[in-house]
Amino acid sequence: MNYQPEPFRIKMVEPIRLISKQDRAAAIKSAGYNLFNLKADDVYIDLLTDSGTGSMSQYQWAAMMTGDESYAGAKSYFRFSDVVQEIFGFEYFVPTHQGRAAENILVNILVKPGQFIPSNMHFDTTEGNIRAGKAFPVNLVNENAFDPSNLDPFKGNMDLKKLREFIQTTGPENIPFGSITITNNAGGGQPVSLENIRQVAEIYHEYGILFFIDACRFAENSYFIKQRETGYQNHSILSIAQEIFSYADGAWMSAKKDALVNIGGFLAVRDNNIYQKICNELILKEGFISYGGLAGRDLDAVAVGLQEGLDEDYLAYRTGQTAYLTEKLSSNGIPVMQPAGGHAVYLDAGALLPHIPPHQFPGQTLAVALYLEGAVRGVEIGSVMFAYPDPDTGKMVHPRLELVRLAIPRRVYTQSHLDFVVETAKQVYEQKNNYKGYEFTYAPELLRHFTARFKPL
Ligand SMILES: Cc1ncc(COP(=O)(O)O)c(C=O)c1O
Repeated sequence: MNYQPEPFRIKMVEPIRLISKQDRAAAIKSAGYNLFNLKADDVYIDLLTDSGTGSMSQYQWAAMMTGDESYAGAKSYFRFSDVVQEIFGFEYFVPTHQGRAAENILVNILVKPGQFIPSNMHFDTTEGNIRAGKAFPVNLVNENAFDPSNLDPFKGNMDLKKLREFIQTTGPENIPFGSITITNNAGGGQPVSLENIRQVAEIYHEYGILFFIDACRFAENSYFIKQRETGYQNHSILSIAQEIFSYADGAWMSAKKDALVNIGGFLAVRDNNIYQKICNELILKEGFISYGGLAGRDLDAVAVGLQEGLDEDYLAYRTGQTAYLTEKLSSNGIPVMQPAGGHAVYLDAGALLPHIPPHQFPGQTLAVALYLEGAVRGVEIGSVMFAYPDPDTGKMVHPRLELVRLAIPRRVYTQSHLDFVVETAKQVYEQKNNYKGYEFTYAPELLRHFTARFKPL
């Protein structure tokens, strides 16, 4: 498969080094076999997340120099606001320091204990915020999402039948808002079609339920719509994004993804009453409404990054990297989620290590093995991240897929870095029958993957 050359050249470099196998073994042991606990310096190729790990462009760095650090009404705020208005079209918006802050505000102002929030699939922080509000996240993605070999081009789509039935049995009065995540990070970075977004909006609105979009990878999702959805081939990425958000009552975004910045986010709505509540909560928790926990210079970097993130050459290269890595791994027999998603390659740890049951964490086992073999850092997206005790029976409910996500930071790694990842994965694959699972030695109740510790079985 061809590798599409980077549409940029490198002007500043950050040295990385590969520590010895012995040092890797010592490092992961003292990290309690949790890759979040490693020193970044002990990682060679860091695919832990695409969130906040991208490289900013010369235009973004230049914009930071124009940052206005006024407490209220800064010029930077208005530049950010204009771009949000143009792309997303919501009447009201506030900056937040990252995506989860927006989620926290939304849950605090809209959600009561015992209520339900449906989505295609919630990601970890969204799920954590909803559970912290004593409410229940509900995932209603279509069945194809659970079959890694299914080539459905829109595996992030919500199952409309399940959604309607869920609303009818739960009662719309118990659903303060519904959402959809684009692209679906917990399910392989798979896109959602515009047709599905339109229909989901119609269903929510038919029952008087507010519709919010978790928008952090909206540009990648829009690019997939242009590539894969009939009727959109001649549309610009901007016009596709505008159409997506025209169906929603609000959106939140972690700008650390498709806005190509290292920190930032926002929450946007159409309703003035909700906006007033958001402002009060924001001032209490994040900062004044024109900076929301960010420096003025950060707002400028987001304003420029949001526009760069829509560039088609960039998006072709970006999704091309993911497709390249997916194809290389797959052609070496390594089971991966197909088709390639936007921001990451998802290894199917359940299929690769079928002898390790979910409660012994095949994904964690695979993630640790990749580190030991080549100091490649990915993240488990399986039972460590998403298993939870059933509130009625106390029995652990395991997710249907045990994955390891190799998230590709934006504009950071080159083809040879990805080739190194493939070589590392091949070595792990050859030893697949020798691996044993892990058990917790410590795990907090919520968002446990971030700080849990393990021991090998
Ligand atoms: C789909 C999705 N929603 C929300 C978030 C939370 O954003 P942040 O990390 O900026 O708090 C993330 C972060 O990875 C995400 O992938």
